[in-house]
Amino acid sequence: MSTKILAVNGGKRTVPEGMIKNWPPVDETDRELVMKSLMGGSHAFGPNCEAFQKEYAKWNGSKYTIFTNSGTAALHMGIYACGVGAGDHVLVPAYSWSSSATCILHHNAIPIFVDIDFATINIDTDKIEAAITPRTKAIVVVHLHGLSANMEKVLAVAKKHKLKVIEDACQGHGAEFRGRKTGNWGDCGAFSFNQNKCLCTGEGGMFVTNNEEMYKDALKLWSFGETSTPSEKRDYHAYALGWMYRGSDLVAAFGRAQLAKIDKYIDMQNENAAVLNKRLKGVKGLILPYEPERGMHNWYNYTSRIDMKAIGWDGDPQKMRNAVMKALNAEGVPVGVWQSFALPDMTVFKAKNAYGHGCPWSCNGAGDGVEYKIENYPMSIKHVDTHFGMTTPLRAPNRLDVAEKVADAFIKVFENIKEIVPE
Ligand SMILES: Cc1ncc(COP(=O)(O)O)c(C=O)c1O
Repeated sequence: MSTKILAVNGGKRTVPEGMIKNWPPVDETDRELVMKSLMGGSHAFGPNCEAFQKEYAKWNGSKYTIFTNSGTAALHMGIYACGVGAGDHVLVPAYSWSSSATCILHHNAIPIFVDIDFATINIDTDKIEAAITPRTKAIVVVHLHGLSANMEKVLAVAKKHKLKVIEDACQGHGAEFRGRKTGNWGDCGAFSFNQNKCLCTGEGGMFVTNNEEMYKDALKLWSFGETSTPSEKRDYHAYALGWMYRGSDLVAAFGRAQLAKIDKYIDMQNENAAVLNKRLKGVKGLILPYEPERGMHNWYNYTSRIDMKAIGWDGDPQKMRNAVMKALNAEGVPVGVWQSFALPDMTVFKAKNAYGHGCPWSCNGAGDGVEYKIENYPMSIKHVDTHFGMTTPLRAPNRLDVAEKVADAFIKVFENIKEIVPE
């Protein structure tokens, strides 16, 4: 048992200042492609967008790809491509990013929440069936924090009830289920390329599908309801209700350069996570992230939970979690709370204030019996109360020396947890 003084109490910090480097690394490939785009004179949906789509399709093993300005746009396209319409019900995990569920509202459909499985933080596949109503058309399944959901179980329920499946793979780049990459298991999928994602273009996203009809429908929603892309001959006719979700050439150029390095970066994340998993196994009070099978995780976010009982804390769990985070931050580890609200606890759902006038819930009885009560999602509550996560220390260019230091800091904090005083 170590008795080192915690940095938060005036001791020496474990991870030296400046040791953890920012994500993503930018090198000559990035500079070359971005500068070529800049000087190329085609700044809207240009040649780099076309090339990025093709290269991403090849990398992910998906037949069709559409480059978007966000992951949320790609999710919304998936909702439409799956034939979801006003008043339909769509299942979605109760703990995720807000737009895993608001993309359903974007199409005037109704999100129905399913609690998470505490171990994986993904949708509890045993609870999906109970949430199905006669209006249910689809499931948004999220590969949260880079761990693939159990797609075999999700697809079995979907098949039984004739539901479409949209994969929210916004955090799931390169994560595999049974050796097949995310985005290829459901009817379609959505990836995000925002600052923090395993492929960073600043902002951006990709819609993926292996179904030609869905691809054609998604195209309409993507670009003004039109049926052609900007690189084809356009008639500028709105055949459907469209948005403007196209990405731009400069962003795609950055994406192409990053894509060329993504496999190397994900391997590094796996190696860094392996050090943490090995060093932190058995640390009292620490619940480590869980990977049912090797390869299912891309280690986008290394999310831990605190076992309050094991550390002898019976007060407010969030107070203790926040105090532990503060202690880790003082040691130089950039941990943070990822989402401090479960989705059914967010105002847009609780107040049912999406499109105004009570729609979609009040229109044609579509929302009769639908209620958003956070107490119905106990595993999501427990996760919200006890988790903290980190991304940067696992990312390139950070290597095993960083992982070792971060592990030292975790061990120091948990071995001296009695010295932590929650405010
Ligand atoms: C699980 C999940 N879904 C959806 C999104 C939305 O992606 P974007 O910010 O690119 O719209 C994000 C990230 O922000 C996410 O983490």
